[in-house]
Amino acid sequence: MSKFEILGKNKLYGEIQVLGAKNAAMKMISASVLIQGKVTLENVPDILDIQTIIDILTENGAKISRKEHSLEIDTTNLKERDPNPSLVKKMRGSIVLVGPYLARFGKISFPHPGGCVIGSRPIDIHLKAFRDLGAEIEESDNFYLIKLNKFVSGEIDFRKVSVTATENILMASCVALGTTVITNAAREPEVVDLAHFLNQAGAKISGMGTSTITVTGVKKLHPLKYTVLPDRIEAGTFLTAGVVTDSCLKVASCNPDHLTAFLDVLKKINVELEIGSNYIKILDAKNLGSIDIKTAVYPGLATDLQAPMGLILTQSSGTSRIFETIFENRLGYLHELEKMGAKFKLIDPSQAEIYGPSKLNGAVIQTPDLRAGATLVLAALAAEGKTTILGAEIIDRGYENIEERLRLVGANIKRINR
Ligand code: EPZ
Repeated sequence: MSKFEILGKNKLYGEIQVLGAKNAAMKMISASVLIQGKVTLENVPDILDIQTIIDILTENGAKISRKEHSLEIDTTNLKERDPNPSLVKKMRGSIVLVGPYLARFGKISFPHPGGCVIGSRPIDIHLKAFRDLGAEIEESDNFYLIKLNKFVSGEIDFRKVSVTATENILMASCVALGTTVITNAAREPEVVDLAHFLNQAGAKISGMGTSTITVTGVKKLHPLKYTVLPDRIEAGTFLTAGVVTDSCLKVASCNPDHLTAFLDVLKKINVELEIGSNYIKILDAKNLGSIDIKTAVYPGLATDLQAPMGLILTQSSGTSRIFETIFENRLGYLHELEKMGAKFKLIDPSQAEIYGPSKLNGAVIQTPDLRAGATLVLAALAAEGKTTILGAEIIDRGYENIEERLRLVGANIKRINR
């Protein structure tokens, strides 16, 4: 177990670089199961969730090597053996192995995937879509056995937008016979990037970035080299660090177009920004105003940036409201912020009123989940005195060496391993 100790109130300065998106890289590593030969992925963050998916595939015979942020993946000798259940249970994202495994081996058995406790997180949308593609599914004791003997192309209509279900169907159908049309598809930039990756490997996917995606199956995919898009959630996280410490901080190597909803909120609450083609700079964040926010699927305000935004609202004057519409239990971090002095009222598990500005003070707090954990680090940067954040490993799942990168822009943060 390790923890972070942070002495707050330092101004941040200079430039912080955003790395590749966890939620795209992980899917591309899974998609490599569909490709015989060498896949080179650039801009892959060195984080625990990526390592878990690498471990799952390596254990089953894939050859994967890392040189800094570049991965070489070769799944030619991947064995027809189910992924290790204890690794699958470590993170929700492992569900994206199912599509590629079905396409390559025609079957997979796996436990209900784990991950952040931010809601009930069922997988019924995935299962229904696999059934629509012709799969037979047996479920017992929270384990699923899925067999896909004969692929049925046609229309897959999601009852609700789901990022990983869209990705699973993209991957399962791109090397199957026939044309598959996905309606009510997710439009998140990570889904679009996965589609670009697959197309560069020879797939025929169109409509990505819209709610109707068409996949025309091809016989096989070929090796490729691809650069993962910048992580918009990491960019939003670092921008929040600049806002809550009122620092002139430049967040570089990002795509501002992927953060439009988040930046619109910042502008509305009086944050002065300079936005370039691949960077965003905080110029002034002194007089923050209140606002009501609501998360939504892309291009709306990302649920993964709801906690950072909630922190910002504790520093804004007046009453703000948060409505989390994607996950039903993603406001738990407010109780940790309360220990530091934040004031709020929970209306129900997905809605809260925040009363600001409140002075934050150092405290001993616990990381509830990945994005909430990163938010607590940011809160500690803005707080008076020392904050101890327990459960640093949860933050390591999605942020590479966060302490070193924040230290380089002026934060006083250290990791203590126990
Ligand atoms: C992806 O999760 C991301 N994870 C999440 O990021 C992100 O918060 C989420 O999309 C929304 O943008 C990965 O890409 C690995 P969904 P995913 O299926 O695909 C319900 C992070 O911190 N639903 O789009 O699992 C679900 O409960 C993580 O990086 C069903 O009801 O999310 C939720 O209410 C956290 N049945 C909504 O749909 C299903 O079968 C959207 O979830 C699937 C989902």
